[in-house]
Amino acid sequence: MVYHTMTDQIIEELRKIVGRGNVITDGEKLDAYSHDETDAREFGHRPDVVVLPASTEETAAVVQLANRELIPVTPRGAGSGLSGGAIPEYGGIVVSLEKMNRLIEVDRENMLAVAEAGMVTNDFAKAVEEQGLFFAGYPMSLQTCVIGGNIAENAGGGKAVKYGVTGRYILGLTLVTPTGEIVELGGKLAKDVTGYDLKSLVIGSEGTLGIVTKAIIRLIGYPSSKSDLLALFKTPKDAIDLVPEILCRGVTPTSIEFMDKLSVQTSCKYLNESLPYEDCGAMLLIELDGSDPVQVESDLIETGKLCESRGALEVYVAEDRNNIERIWNVRRNIAEAFKVFSPTQSLEDIVVPISRIPDIIPELERLGKKYGMQIPCYGHAGDGNLHATLVKDPEMNMDEWKKNEWACQKELYEITKAAGGKISGEHGIGIKRREFFKELVNPGELELMKALKRAWDPNNIMNPGKIFN
Ligand code: LAC
Ligand code: ZN
Repeated sequence: MVYHTMTDQIIEELRKIVGRGNVITDGEKLDAYSHDETDAREFGHRPDVVVLPASTEETAAVVQLANRELIPVTPRGAGSGLSGGAIPEYGGIVVSLEKMNRLIEVDRENMLAVAEAGMVTNDFAKAVEEQGLFFAGYPMSLQTCVIGGNIAENAGGGKAVKYGVTGRYILGLTLVTPTGEIVELGGKLAKDVTGYDLKSLVIGSEGTLGIVTKAIIRLIGYPSSKSDLLALFKTPKDAIDLVPEILCRGVTPTSIEFMDKLSVQTSCKYLNESLPYEDCGAMLLIELDGSDPVQVESDLIETGKLCESRGALEVYVAEDRNNIERIWNVRRNIAEAFKVFSPTQSLEDIVVPISRIPDIIPELERLGKKYGMQIPCYGHAGDGNLHATLVKDPEMNMDEWKKNEWACQKELYEITKAAGGKISGEHGIGIKRREFFKELVNPGELELMKALKRAWDPNNIMNPGKIFN
């Protein structure tokens, strides 16, 4: 890819578009925009300049300029991604949406809200909750991530078993295309088959097809009852084997989260927290919700009985919200805890049909032995989406680790594919997985994807290098 280099004149033009104070060129400040939650040493790259537009029009003007001058553009939400999607690998301009963080409208009659892409997901969820409405998209990093990033990655998270992922709640988008046009996709509509579903194409396209600046987001009634149980098992296999059974009874829990022993212990250490029987082999954290407390309670009891009858060592029904929140906090912080205690690692997010997750756990144990590493695992078992984490043994030298990490990832992805799965269920391809993606994706599908990219972004300036290079 041949891009033009940044010039003082282009920077001056950017200042004219977004205002002098909204253009960052200072080296140290640029560093904050050079990485996401992947390992900065491996994937990080400094942009030449960061701009903070305040509107869709300013964003469009920046992209028009970049497209004319052949300068790469990298859209950025909160930088909480896990595959390198917001990293400006080719330098150029980072367009950070942090200033576009307003809730524009809550439209109760239509059960939706309109928000700018830089709004923190948690702030959005809280603002609509005050009006008795519920945003069912629930990424694990919701305290920091933003709506635009959730859309770019089609974020999943903890409630997808029942409520599905972000895309289900996005009714419309304002998009700045890679050539700098502003287009509205979708609308305040429950149904829309008016031509191609471009909105759905943009959702999950990792910022390669344009910059989403605004979204129309579907809301539902706030589920008034919620109950959780924590089931403890001797081995990870015992816990995982039960997941398809829980689901095929016809009662769909909000979440079925799986955590193995090392994942729980690492997060507890990080949070200075302790959970009952932290020493068991694995846990399932199951949440049910609904509008009828009696129904929710009886479904929970039935689920608890099923766990007991299938070998759970203990089943705890969390009595108060405070305890539940503590357990969820342990679950939510596992990724961060591994990052702190085992910074050289690879966090995976393979996804397989739910009936095949029991096949994966023994494979992780086998791969761990073969490649001399620990592979703790946790994740959204109810979606067949597991965060196996390849952790470097401190004794292993770096060259050997790199070799083994690559080989282990490859073998894990091949196993996943053979089980009818895919290499990413929620974190995306980004930079991190593009080499594997190229090898494992169906060639016809890859060609169609590339053809779309070429048609939308003829100069390949929009988030280049992500998904495919
Ligand atoms: C989680 C993130 C890593 O589930 O996706 O915690
Ligand atoms: Zn996850």
